[in-house]
Amino acid sequence: MLSMIIPTYNEVENIPLIIKRIFKVMEANGIEGEVLVVDDDSKDGTAAAARKMAKKYPVRTIVRKKNRGLSPAVIRGFKEAKYDVVGVIDADLSHPPEVIPDMLNPILKGEMDFTLGSRYVEGGGMDNWPLKRQIISGGATMMAYPLHKIKDPMSGYFMVRKSLLKGVHLNPKGYKIALEVLVKCNIKRYKEVPIIFKDRQYGESKLNWKEQVNYLIHLQRLYKHKYTTLYQLFFFLLIGGIGMAPDIALFNLFYHGLHFSSMDYGLIFTGYQIAHIIGFTVAVTQNFFLNKAFTFDAKGNATMQYVKFFIVGFTAYVFRSIMMYVFVDQLDVWATVAQIVVIILAVAINFLGSKFWAFAVKKK
Ligand code: GDD
Ligand code: MN
Repeated sequence: MLSMIIPTYNEVENIPLIIKRIFKVMEANGIEGEVLVVDDDSKDGTAAAARKMAKKYPVRTIVRKKNRGLSPAVIRGFKEAKYDVVGVIDADLSHPPEVIPDMLNPILKGEMDFTLGSRYVEGGGMDNWPLKRQIISGGATMMAYPLHKIKDPMSGYFMVRKSLLKGVHLNPKGYKIALEVLVKCNIKRYKEVPIIFKDRQYGESKLNWKEQVNYLIHLQRLYKHKYTTLYQLFFFLLIGGIGMAPDIALFNLFYHGLHFSSMDYGLIFTGYQIAHIIGFTVAVTQNFFLNKAFTFDAKGNATMQYVKFFIVGFTAYVFRSIMMYVFVDQLDVWATVAQIVVIILAVAINFLGSKFWAFAVKKK
């Protein structure tokens, strides 16, 4: 029925206590299951303490030596789990094992795919958290709201039907593995079971400021996953906006500063056009590198991407210039509206051409 994963790092005092409590609950409720301790090579003897428990209970201990971290440890546990439902619980007794049956039953009955030990539903809470920790946790929770409606996405206590994890790539970076599962597996049938979160008695928390920064990066990644096009459009516009600076500055430098304005007669290109082309080329190049780094995840030949990106940008640019020229002498309201429409269309050409052509991802 249930594989319960306990990720551990220096939890030697806690591990025997939590294992005992878990099996007490399982035995009392007729739950067949195992505990998987996934330890990141703690130096305090956590793994040895866990192996000792295996004499009495079905406990397996996995020691990972590389790539320390909570999420990769949990993901490893998912892979090793032998039962249909997998759960995750902290070692430090913050999460009460007594609600295991309440979390497990809705999944076994087929009513839910995911259950969570939650502080933010009626009956849940935490004992004496300092205001500062409450504010940080509350802020972090709010930032995740557009990703999933669950009330306590920061909780690390959850269960999931294992079949749902099949074929889903879970990113091991980021501390909030429950949120990762909720978003990547697109969980719709879930239930929050109230818990009172207890502060740890032994050992110390591993969640430091670095993890807070990681959390922001994790959020960014999940937003990108869930709202890909919106996310790309946002960065595309931002980068395009930034790109206006070199464009305008260089045009002015060459046209006014270096007197290209005096070359407005004769040659194939006028000084005005050359100054614009210089500004445009530098801006497009800057936009290309920024978009490649931040907006689109397109591996592949950068030179070809650049050439295509340039063509797209140039097409939009010519289109805009011609259309603006058409409307330039008219001063009524409709001309302004038309110009706005032209700009929107030019941005659309740019964005769609970049997304679906220049930075297109080849399907396997
Ligand atoms: N294997 C492994 N590797 N385990 C780790 C690592 C690691 O690098 N870092 C932490 N753990 C284990 C701890 O041993 C513990 O069992 C569990 O992960 C949670 O770590 P804590 O250090 O106790 O986290 P916390 O108390 O700050 O955070 C708790 O509250 C959050 C909600 O505010 C955890 O429950 C989080 O999961 C939860 O999101
Ligand atoms: Mn803890």
